[in-house]
Parts: sequence; C-alpha cells; structure tokens
Amino acid sequence: MALDIDFVRAQFPAFDEPSLQGQAFFENAGGSYTCRQVIDRLTRYYTQRKVQPYAAYDASRLAGEEMDEARARMAALLGVETDELSFGPSTTQNTYVLAQAVRKWMKPGEAIVVTDQDHEANSGPWRRLAEEGIEIREWRIDPETGRLDPAKLENLLDEKVRLVCFPHCSNVVAEINPVTEITAIAHAAGAFVCVDGVSYAPHGFPDVGALGPDIYLFSSYKTYGPHQGCMVIRRALGEMLPNQAHYFNADVLYKRFTPAGPDHAQVAACAGMADYVDVLCDHHGGPGEGAAARGAFVHDLMRDHEVTLLQPLLDAVKDRNAVRLLGPDRAEHRAPTVALSLGRPAAPVAAELKQNGIMADGGDFYAVRPLAGMGIDPTQGVLRVSFTHYTSKQELDQLIEALDRVL
Ligand SMILES: Cc1ncc(COP(=O)(O)O)c(C=O)c1O
Repeated sequence: MALDIDFVRAQFPAFDEPSLQGQAFFENAGGSYTCRQVIDRLTRYYTQRKVQPYAAYDASRLAGEEMDEARARMAALLGVETDELSFGPSTTQNTYVLAQAVRKWMKPGEAIVVTDQDHEANSGPWRRLAEEGIEIREWRIDPETGRLDPAKLENLLDEKVRLVCFPHCSNVVAEINPVTEITAIAHAAGAFVCVDGVSYAPHGFPDVGALGPDIYLFSSYKTYGPHQGCMVIRRALGEMLPNQAHYFNADVLYKRFTPAGPDHAQVAACAGMADYVDVLCDHHGGPGEGAAARGAFVHDLMRDHEVTLLQPLLDAVKDRNAVRLLGPDRAEHRAPTVALSLGRPAAPVAAELKQNGIMADGGDFYAVRPLAGMGIDPTQGVLRVSFTHYTSKQELDQLIEALDRVL
C-alpha cells in the first residue's frame, strides 16, 4: 500500500496557505509543518479551555483530561507506559535537566560515552559533567563517512561506564544507527543508554519499548506537532536518578525531570499527533487495534514514500564535482536529511535556492562537532535540504532542478 500523498497533504493547512504557494519546503529537519489535528486542538484549548487545568469546573477538567490524553496516547504509540513519557520545553532543555540528575547520580571516576555525531543538545550537557570529575569518553565518527561503528564502542566500554549517549540519526550525517544493537552492547557492559531521536522521529514514530533504550528524546515541533520536547525515561532508570522537580512531585515519574511548569495548551495539543497517526492508519487500511502496531504501520508507509523520493536526490548530488554528500548514498540507510559540503559558505547558496522556489538553509545546524569531525569548516557550514513524508514527487523534481542551477 502506497502513501496517499494527496490525502496526507490535505491534513496540513500550510499546503493551502496562499503566502506559501510556489515554494517547496526543504527545511523540515529544522521544524515541520503542523498537521490540522494539532492546530485544531490548540485552537480549541485556547478558545474553550485556557484555564488552570485539573480543577473540578468543566473547562479546567477538560483541559487536564486532554493533557492526560496526550501523554497516554503518545506513550502507547511509542510502546511505553503512560508515566514514562514527559513533555518539556525542548529536547535541549530536557537533556540539560537530565544531566543535572546524572551529575548527582554518578561518582567521580565513573565514565560517560558521548559521540561526535550528535547535535550539541545530546553532547554538551554530558561533556560538562567532566567538571565533577566524571570521565568523558568520545565515540568518534569515521572522518570520511561520518559513520559510528558499533565495534568501536565496545572498545570504550568497561565497568566504569554508566551511560552511553548517541543519536538515532544525526541531523547532518542522517545515517540510521542500529539503536537496538548499540543498546544491547551498552547494556551488556552494565551501562544505560540515552538516544537523541530528534532527527529520526519525524520519519515515523518508533516503538521505543521494542527498540530498547532507557531514554529516548525527540521534539514534537519536528513531528507535525507543537513546540515541545518529548522524553521517554524507562521506569528503572527514572526511579534511580534523583528527582529534579519539586520535592512533593518526586513520586510522579513524568514530573521528575521536567521542573518547569508545563505549557498546558501545547501538551494537550500533542494528542493531535496521535490523531494524525490514527487518521493515516485508518485511511490506508492499517490494523484496527494496538497503538504501537498502528504506529508501526504508519511509520512504514512514511518511510517507503521517503525512501522512494530520496534515492533520485542522492543520485543527483553524490557524484557532483565540488560537492560532498554527507552520510550514505543509499536511501534505505538514512533519513531524508541531505547535507552537502560545498567547500564554500553554504548560506549564500541557500539564498540562491530561495530564488528558485526552494525553502532551505545553510549553516552548522548546531552539529559543529560532527562537521569538524569530518574535516568540514563549521563556519562555512553545509547546505541542508530535508524533507518528510508529506513532500511530493513534484517538489523533489523542483529541488533537483534548482540544485542543478545553483551548485
Ligand atoms: C538531532 C537534534 N537533536 C536535538 C535538537 C534540539 O532540539 P530542541 O530544539 O527541541 O532543543 C535538534 C534541533 O534541531 C536536533 O536536530
């Protein structure tokens, strides 16, 4: 069953927005368009329920119920327990708070493994723990391919390592890392695992329970939702790490690592992402039951569409003179986030793309370490064109023609 692209696009008001006509959107790795289901819930919240939630009066009760619904439905989709999912302001802030908990939990002389493939959000907060005497071990990418080799991780592990942090896929290399295999290696050595899923989740919500990590993070403003950071913390680790919230909230797992007061409307609107998955599942004749199974069906629909569109783009750029494609040139191994190093500043080239009806950008995308690790000058940056399942074949053709003109 192929993705019904017209049906998909009808769920996104941006595609009918007059001011956006004629421009194809290729900065989806920065933030996606928002689906109608999320916008409708946000509007309903702000117009009907914009009161302090969880009191007895109707508007408040409904506000609280919708926030709970968002957590329950998204957790089910991700294959975890309801209280193992928390919503915070962003993934960067969520990792920062987690690192404060880990700072107290680990002892000087113990070690954390970080990569140089990560966005800074899943790197810097952990590296700062060196200030407490925690040893930071770097799992380095191959300087040519940008690849993280699981065999190299094994050499970094011993009984001192408590935590291994790595991305599901990088926001510039885009190769999909084998999370289950890496998690098994870390667990076998007695370490917990923290996965940054921000660049992966927009291409289909994963069954985090089946994948296996102890922490899995993503940002809902890139998964068709409102601007939130979604954080799965499995119970065993969540109960072990010291509480970072008000002391009287210590018993509530989903509150322990989100000390900020929640953005009620946005948390509630996160249920719209589950609505969207349901709408796609039903429209395409997916399974009638089991949130994670329905999510897996929609995940595969999205991925198949993306992989089909991605290969011609990779073929068009991979052998070009003076262009270095980062990450694999086979679509099935990567996300459709295509970063190109041009040997010159990338931002002016993105500006030229704008003249050709393409919305994209150039820069370091906070992936300064991965770029440096591949010998690319982060101040020149990379041109990044990224798409998702709602992108059409016509838009891809428009992009390939535009790249032909500007590269
Ligand atoms: C791979 C990756 N991780 C983490 C982040 C940080 O997410 P947030 O903006 O929610 O802090 C980003 C943001 O672009 C990202 O691309």
